[in-house]
Amino acid sequence: MDRPAWLRAPNPRVLDGSLLVGVGFVLATGVVSLFSGRPSRAWVFLTHGVGGLVLAGLVGLKLRRVRHRVGGARHSAVIALSVLLAVVTVGAIGSGVAWVFGASLDLGPWGLLNLHVGLGLAVGGLLAAHLVYRFRLPGRSDIEGRRTALRYTAAVLVGAAAYRLQASVNDAAETAGADRRFTGSREDGSDDGNAFPVTSWMADDPDPVDAASWSLTVDGAVAEPTELEYPELVDDDERRALLDCTSGWYSEHDWTGVSVASLLDAVDPDDDAAWVQFRSVTGYRWSLPIEEARGALLATAVDGEGLDHGHGFPLRLVAPGRRGFQWVKWVEAVRVTRRRDHTERLAIFVSGFG
Ligand code: HEM
Repeated sequence: MDRPAWLRAPNPRVLDGSLLVGVGFVLATGVVSLFSGRPSRAWVFLTHGVGGLVLAGLVGLKLRRVRHRVGGARHSAVIALSVLLAVVTVGAIGSGVAWVFGASLDLGPWGLLNLHVGLGLAVGGLLAAHLVYRFRLPGRSDIEGRRTALRYTAAVLVGAAAYRLQASVNDAAETAGADRRFTGSREDGSDDGNAFPVTSWMADDPDPVDAASWSLTVDGAVAEPTELEYPELVDDDERRALLDCTSGWYSEHDWTGVSVASLLDAVDPDDDAAWVQFRSVTGYRWSLPIEEARGALLATAVDGEGLDHGHGFPLRLVAPGRRGFQWVKWVEAVRVTRRRDHTERLAIFVSGFG
């Protein structure tokens, strides 16, 4: 018996257009996920997962349609690029699903989730190059109105069902993926002092900081700038906070240190001060809105142990609800500003290469 028309594979141009939209969607949600640490952002990860699974189905249909062309006599750089795009896309989807089911991979400083992000970003670049040679907009006659809408509603429902099923299978099989946070991260080293993983965003890897020659500057849009030597730091705050790293682990600890609110009170920010920037000895830096910064801590100790070098001795920012790369390590300056310093978004990629 013939399948109903809306169950048949979509028109080739509509399928290509959907692949473009699908990749754009998972790439966008993937990039936004890197900056999402609060439960109110769980939808970013959920829609990324469902989008990734819908895309897996679309990629399957596309590969079925074009597979005969790869073995043919015509070989060219354009076909080689298409094959590479297919392999990297399947790799990105496969590594995402493998991560969700609890798989791990030891790639030196990186792991499976880093590989997934790397492949995901590569899909974006390769697809852009592929479009230069292959892109044709679907015409009005390709779109088939109601039938196309039905097909895509069905595809999203199947993706959502697969996502739900994946959670049940993970729970039943008690995989390492079953207990992951909504961010996809798995627990590592909570409540055990410095024994949690040491990772650095990109290349930051300074020599150990000598507390005797180190000092903390607090300045910018303030009435009373100040500079504190290490012995002058007063631990006046304690905070239980969860560090969630974009490389796929999280760790919860009791942090002790200097409250940013007390530092700000001491320097008296100007009325129009809006941001507080935390700068590392490496030049790495990140800013928080001033109200949020008041709730942050500059930690000297974790679970009662002095911070070790890998975790940012002598001072590390503890910014609850932010991802790990925003918890600046080896802090030597706190600067109050009126406007956000946009160069910091570049600095986090290049600071360790100097
Ligand atoms: C910047 C790029 C990306 C980032 C940061 C990223 C991040 C993530 C994270 C954190 C997860 C785990 C979610 C969870 O545990 O529930 C995940 C899963 C997944 N990602 Fe990505 N991703 C990126 C790009 C991509 C791309 C381009 C694709 C597709 C080509 C993709 C497909 C998937 C799939 C299929 C899953 C598994 C969903 C599931 O089985 O529930 N991702 N991704």
